[in-house]
Amino acid sequence: MQKIAIIPGDGIGIDVTREAVKVLRRANEVFKLPLELVEFEFGADYYLKTGIGLPPGQMEEFRKNYAAVYLGALGDPRIPDMRHGREILLGMRFDLDLYINLRPVKLLNERLCPLKDKTAKDVDFVVFRENTEGPYINAGGILKKGTPDEVATQESYYTRKGVERIIRAAFAYAKSHGRTRVTMSDKSNVLRYGHDLWQRVFAKVGEEYPEIEKDHFFVDALVMKMVKNPEHFQVIVTENMLGDIITDLGAILQGGLGMAGSGNIHPGQVSLFEPVHGSAPSMAGKNKANPLAAILTVAMMLDFLGHPQAAAAVEAAVQKAVDEKQVTADVGGNLGTKECGDFVVAQIG
Ligand SMILES: NC(=O)c1ccc[n+]([C@@H]2O[C@H](COP(=O)([O-])OP(=O)(O)OC[C@H]3O[C@@H](n4cnc5c(N)ncnc54)[C@H](O)[C@@H]3O)[C@@H](O)[C@H]2O)c1
Repeated sequence: MQKIAIIPGDGIGIDVTREAVKVLRRANEVFKLPLELVEFEFGADYYLKTGIGLPPGQMEEFRKNYAAVYLGALGDPRIPDMRHGREILLGMRFDLDLYINLRPVKLLNERLCPLKDKTAKDVDFVVFRENTEGPYINAGGILKKGTPDEVATQESYYTRKGVERIIRAAFAYAKSHGRTRVTMSDKSNVLRYGHDLWQRVFAKVGEEYPEIEKDHFFVDALVMKMVKNPEHFQVIVTENMLGDIITDLGAILQGGLGMAGSGNIHPGQVSLFEPVHGSAPSMAGKNKANPLAAILTVAMMLDFLGHPQAAAAVEAAVQKAVDEKQVTADVGGNLGTKECGDFVVAQIG
């Protein structure tokens, strides 16, 4: 049996997770999978009621007894500093050591792409974003706050171990998925210490994969190339903050935030899957949010759990929904969240 924790979270996270869970239950039934879904109410309401993001011991419980966690989205205007979100999401990323943030950028239909003359085969790459180091480690400080002499520092660290494991994961993925080029992106021309380590480790790990082309772009050149020639890219590996930014550009290339799924992964251990988008509070509860990012995230999770056939069936169902315009308004259809989810469910099995 594989236990899956479901955390719908806040805003449209709740709307899209309802559809994602329908799809997951359908795949579980049709492909006779061993999945047991357990729903949790963690999110803004729970935090406002209890003052707790994740209860003590919950992380350990996920680590020991769960195969994966599925999260809708977090974010609520009543908690402007996102304290609950940081505790839950960043807490899991760091405490469960989910060092791979895997974000596929795959265009399902050319009408969703904002670039002129680019077709589905031109936009098909994956980004491996390092997820536990870099500037997001929350180290630094503020001196003389609010005065004209104020000083703020924001520290960033990279470890050889951390850089090596994400780069190796990118090469291993390329090799096992028939991809022939891995692109590393950094800002080593100015960040002479941290990103120099990335340069050296990329060259070293790359030696283990002679059959794979090693490619490099400074991040400013990378974003231009992503727009001009997205077909160049197959697998991109980069550090935490740069990866955060370039994957939002990637999401737009594939049709917007409503189409982008992601995994926060530690191979062989409990991992976390979530659509890239946030809780979009103004859309919440209106049956308007696009559930396809959440459903594509289900496919990624099924693949991670060792059910590639079920994952492929979910992806094919989403492809059909897009091709037949059985989708929400943001991607050119006129269905509601629920109706789009129903269409996808009906295509499985
Ligand atoms: N991983 C997460 O949980 C996560 C990620 C990003 C933002 N947030 C939080 O979400 C809240 C809102 O943030 P935001 O407005 O910057 O980002 P957002 O992703 O929630 O929404 C930005 C805009 O993108 C569009 N959009 C996003 N998802 C969509 C979908 N499924 N279907 C159709 N359109 C969609 C909407 O137009 C929306 O206004 C904030 O509290 C923020 O902190 C959470």
